[in-house]
Amino acid sequence: MCRPSHFEVVYAINPWMDPAKPVDTGLAVLQWERLRELYLELGHTVDLIDPLPGLPDMVYAANGATVVDGRVLGASFRNAERRAEGPAYLEWFRANGFTELHDPAYVNEGEGDFLVTGRFVLAGHGFRSDARSHQEAQSFFGRPVISLELVDPRYYHLDTALAVLDGDEIMYHPEAFAPGSREVLRSLFPDAVEVSAADAEVFGLNAVSDGLNVVLPEAARILAGRLRERGFNPIGMDLSELLKGGGSVKCCTLEIRH
Ligand code: ARG
Repeated sequence: MCRPSHFEVVYAINPWMDPAKPVDTGLAVLQWERLRELYLELGHTVDLIDPLPGLPDMVYAANGATVVDGRVLGASFRNAERRAEGPAYLEWFRANGFTELHDPAYVNEGEGDFLVTGRFVLAGHGFRSDARSHQEAQSFFGRPVISLELVDPRYYHLDTALAVLDGDEIMYHPEAFAPGSREVLRSLFPDAVEVSAADAEVFGLNAVSDGLNVVLPEAARILAGRLRERGFNPIGMDLSELLKGGGSVKCCTLEIRH
């Protein structure tokens, strides 16, 4: 995770960002601290990367890399405003003892567009990651990569439209995907939780699950109820300030899979 010490909205690279709207950086830090404390209470380890001045979106750690089996696929950002984050995150992994590192050839925004299930790596394209990065990820990780096309600019990253709950159990908002990709999701994940616009619009799918606890924005109330019925323990969080940058729980969390 990356503390939002330098968080602000001074440019707009997704429809949620409005530089005219005030952001309370102090409140962003408090809300983020609560998320970090929650992970610790749930028994998870949280590593921190130092936030760099001039990189207000660095708090969205999910975009910094993708790590599977200890292999680190570096990120390469679409927008110039975030480009310096890629090398900064890769350097963190190098400094922390990871040896299998891949400097990407194609644009990929880390776990914003790569999500890992039991069998697959699900990969988004359409707004940020270059579809050619999907092949690159498949070669590097040696796992089948399923390419999915995003069509709604509000759901510009895969992790705003789909979340992995446990193994090959997922939840997603079908309307965020092109018709062909919807069919792929229905055939690969027939038991998935299909999430309505009301829950998706409040970033309900920007969730982190450890297989039991599902941490998600508290406004996604209908979804929380459905997850409870499925045997999960949904935990709602208020990340109102980070939402102004177009991100929530999952965006703030890069999962390290050793
Ligand atoms: N302002 C950031 C951007 O548009 C938000 C990134 C959200 N991160 C995510 N994993 N979806 O790039």
